Amino acid sequence: MPHQANVALETRASILGRKFVQRFGETPHIYQAPARVNLIGEHTDYNDGFVMPAAIGFSTEVAIAPRSDRKLVIHSENYSEQIEFDLDHLPAARAGHWSDYAIGVAIMLERSGKKLGGINLLIDGDVPQGAGLSSSASLEIAVGYALLDLTDSAIDHPAIDQTNIDRTKLALLCQQAENEFVGARCGIMDQFVVSHGRRGNALLLDCRSLEYRLLPVPEGTSLAICNTMVKHSIAKGEYNQRRAECEAGMRALSKYLPHARALRDVTLQDLEKYGHKLPDVGLRRCRHVVSEDVCVQQAAEALERQDLPAFGKLMLESHRSLRDDFEVSCTELDIMVELAEKAEGVYGSRMTGGGFGGCTITLIKAECVDRFQQIIQQGYERAIGCKPEIYICTADDGVGRIE
Ligand code: GLA
Repeated sequence: MPHQANVALETRASILGRKFVQRFGETPHIYQAPARVNLIGEHTDYNDGFVMPAAIGFSTEVAIAPRSDRKLVIHSENYSEQIEFDLDHLPAARAGHWSDYAIGVAIMLERSGKKLGGINLLIDGDVPQGAGLSSSASLEIAVGYALLDLTDSAIDHPAIDQTNIDRTKLALLCQQAENEFVGARCGIMDQFVVSHGRRGNALLLDCRSLEYRLLPVPEGTSLAICNTMVKHSIAKGEYNQRRAECEAGMRALSKYLPHARALRDVTLQDLEKYGHKLPDVGLRRCRHVVSEDVCVQQAAEALERQDLPAFGKLMLESHRSLRDDFEVSCTELDIMVELAEKAEGVYGSRMTGGGFGGCTITLIKAECVDRFQQIIQQGYERAIGCKPEIYICTADDGVGRIE
């Protein structure tokens, strides 16, 4: 369970360490990177806008040690599979395989000028796959951090010093791996929060400047994540299509708003004035992004004054906009939100992440979570005919070394 994650994480890390010794005959260093949930601000990151994610206690663990040749050997415990690469002939294109995320990061590191030596990697994790909780960013950041720490400690810093790793550069590099190697044109949100997450806090991130502010999640509040069990993958076409629709909308608007570089620079008043110049779908896509940015700013203010009912209303507004204007929700997500909204102690609920399945996020009084879980289990199963998974989480730390 995520709220017991740290005890579980240490146990998992020492098991992974033992497995590494059995498989590769050496004692590794071990790293972990969390998953993420987004409280509000969806499909705004690639429009230079604002998001409010938090790292959560699922994680990817990576055990790593150098080898004396020029091979990169990666074993996945989750897939029970091992794959080898020659560092002098890294693949030019993705293979549609789990290893794409790890190898993509290694390739971007090399491109950025880091010279990797031979490496053994053992990877394990408990981030639900295809649930929209960023299992891919968690894997990329865990691998990237481990590779950087190993390379930097071997070359630059004889005593390993984690503070030498620039977490923002790491996030950008992993986003580049996903954009250019894996082929998903994701924004920066997931990699950024997996790198920078802080226990007990959500991050208000400006995706243009990459400046962020920590926003404490009030005591006594839980993040209930409900998995519809509808698999989501942003490498599929719809995500890239939404991004292209936003770009097309922006291109059309920039004729009338020459100062605007991205939808982040467009206001609701601008849309009232010039929206009729766009096709209906284009207008709705842009309206979502512009209104969602406003919601995020208002939600940050609400959280700062600990006004959770106001925060909850904004979550619902965001969900409606994602459902009706951006059209990335689905029946299962809508039903999950409706069920949550009726439950006791709930401030607000919405779909989280890219959409088309995956999870909802509900902000709820901690004392009400038991009853909430029962209501959602029963209600969702009755409506959809499938058992949901529910994860009760708190905000957690970003990537780091465990051993
Ligand atoms: C996915 C992407 C993010 C972001 C969200 C939607 O999680 O990886 O960059 O665009 O979808 O907010």
